[in-house]
Amino acid sequence: MIAPALIIALAAVILVWFGISRGLTPLSELQAEIAARSLLDLSPVPEEHAPIEVRLVIASLNNLLRGLAASIDGQQRFLANAAHQLRTPLAGLQTQVEIALRNDMSTELRGVLEQVLAATQRAAHIANQLLALARAEPGSQYLMAHQNINLADLIESIIGSWLHRASVKKIDLGFEISAAHISGDPFLIGELIANLIDNAIRYTHSNGYITVRCYQDGGVVLEVEDNGMGIPESQREKVLERFYRVDGSPGNGCGLGLAIVQEIVRQHGAELMIATPDNGMGTRIVIRFPRAA
Ligand SMILES: Nc1ncnc2c1ncn2[C@@H]1O[C@H](COP(=O)(O)OP(=O)(O)OP(=O)(O)O)[C@@H](O)[C@H]1O
Ligand SMILES: [Mg+2]
Repeated sequence: MIAPALIIALAAVILVWFGISRGLTPLSELQAEIAARSLLDLSPVPEEHAPIEVRLVIASLNNLLRGLAASIDGQQRFLANAAHQLRTPLAGLQTQVEIALRNDMSTELRGVLEQVLAATQRAAHIANQLLALARAEPGSQYLMAHQNINLADLIESIIGSWLHRASVKKIDLGFEISAAHISGDPFLIGELIANLIDNAIRYTHSNGYITVRCYQDGGVVLEVEDNGMGIPESQREKVLERFYRVDGSPGNGCGLGLAIVQEIVRQHGAELMIATPDNGMGTRIVIRFPRAA
């Protein structure tokens, strides 16, 4: 009698084990799906394949995700609108101070007005950077375009507007470009290149050089290289954070440029790397895009 009882008990254990693991499979699939999501993906979790018992949990989770997405969206809109609203009065203020400075006045008053002008220019720069960041963020109210862009043409059309600033610092600003096609938003990619060139000019000493490069291999590569002060290895991740500046950085930047660049890189499924040029001095920012279909 013991042998059949043992066999029945063993069969019961196997059946229960098989039943439970089979019953839990949809839960493990759900867990794998949630774990594989990117932090930026707030779309609802599909309910159809889940067992009835957990559908209510998924429905509550989806409600929470919807609320979170709406709240992030609201904050982004607020930021974009606030930055946009600030730009007009700041531009007006800047013009008025510039007009005032054309008149005769005491040296003391001129000094004060020059400081007001510098502060206004800085505030306008921050408002512009905040607006660019709001535009580059995922889920921004501005829909991202997916156009075929030849980086070579874009660089050629942008670089002219930087030559004057580079020549004031006696920096040799040049480019090495060959046809390189990506799919993306021309406004955002223009913003990305402008921020990289702005940094290269700001953080490179007089008589330095800057090279903007693009080429196509397995993917598409955009590089901005300078022989300036360089970014220490320990700071290379931190400089991508918002409002982070390396201690003692010259100029009056606000620490948003590379955060904007990083956001645009993400939106285009690209990768950013901060390296040192082959001669061991300066900074080389390398961005690798997927090739346009
Ligand atoms: N080409 C570069 N060479 C040396 N240091 C750089 C370079 N680019 C960026 N950095 C460093 O990284 C920091 C962050 O750069 P980021 O562009 O984000 O901010 P910023 O230039 O200070 O301000 P913003 O661009 O918003 O006006 C800078 O403060 C600077 O110290
Ligand atoms: Mg910058």
